[in-house]
Amino acid sequence: MGAQRAGGPSEPASGIIGAHALSGVMPGKDLINLAELPTLVLRRLLARARQHAWALDEDPFDVGQTIRGQVVGLLFFEDSTRTRLSFAMAVHRLGGRFIELTDRGSSLSKGETLADTARTVEAMGVSRLVVRARRTEDVLEVAQAVRIPVLNAGAGDGEHPTQGLLDTLALAEAHQRLDSLDLDGLTVLIVGDVARSRVARSSGPCMAALGARVLVAGPGVDAPVAATAGGAPVERFEDALRQADAVMALRIQHERGGSELDAAGADAAYREQYGLTAERARLLKPGAVVMHPGPANPGVEIDAEVMGLPRSIIVRQVTLGVAARMACLEARGAVTGRT
Ligand code: NCD
Repeated sequence: MGAQRAGGPSEPASGIIGAHALSGVMPGKDLINLAELPTLVLRRLLARARQHAWALDEDPFDVGQTIRGQVVGLLFFEDSTRTRLSFAMAVHRLGGRFIELTDRGSSLSKGETLADTARTVEAMGVSRLVVRARRTEDVLEVAQAVRIPVLNAGAGDGEHPTQGLLDTLALAEAHQRLDSLDLDGLTVLIVGDVARSRVARSSGPCMAALGARVLVAGPGVDAPVAATAGGAPVERFEDALRQADAVMALRIQHERGGSELDAAGADAAYREQYGLTAERARLLKPGAVVMHPGPANPGVEIDAEVMGLPRSIIVRQVTLGVAARMACLEARGAVTGRT
């Protein structure tokens, strides 16, 4: 992306936050959790992601230079479609290259530790590691093992910081708050298997940090669970739907296990109580948008019809995911500042 066209239509050239301004933006070398980042850092990452989004809208084949010559290591130890491919796309869009490892076909199956795997990939000369793992501890183990920055691409039922940034960007855009990145006065309703959702734990706090009121609904959602998503529990799901400026439905995380939601027949009971059905979507006020991080299970947490409504910004979330990941790949930590 050329610097001269980095800004959006309403951003004056003098106000452009270039990639250089992201040097030292991270308090540490890694991006592990959004909940621990100062709001200023969130705003700077979002401002840079906004520039990328504008530039990509203008020219989807635009290729930048900010990480030219660098190779990023993608380590994905849990399934992924959107996050994995959009990180790969983000690397391409910044002019870099990537190498990739999954648990299938790696030496992890021969007993090698995650730390040794990470050090091995670092030793080949990658500039960053992007890690998806089944547990937050695994991402932390990688971060501690290497000197290069590590970006959390979704850690078990912990956090999913780049998803939090892209969801916040999508919400801001849908409500014409991209210029200000101020979500004051907006109510976001997060509904789903919140207790096991890393998306809720990143998106909710990030939106709340920018001023949104976050309401949380779902099985077993009490005040402590809602607080992990940066919000408060709702008394009645339908009432909250009527108030919301955005509703984000979340998938039941069956692969994590250990919940009553995994019992036979639980999907139907879930849909009955918390599904974002076509009927319930009619309760939404004009201008309210429908969000979902994907992958969706149509007919369980959301109806296919609702996913296709004009008020659905689910596909736009995916596009903005590339822009958000570009900003994170450029960010340089205060500790290393090496790349
Ligand atoms: C989510 C994930 O993998 O955490 N998806 C995503 O990254 N877009 C949500 C999920 O799996 O339900």
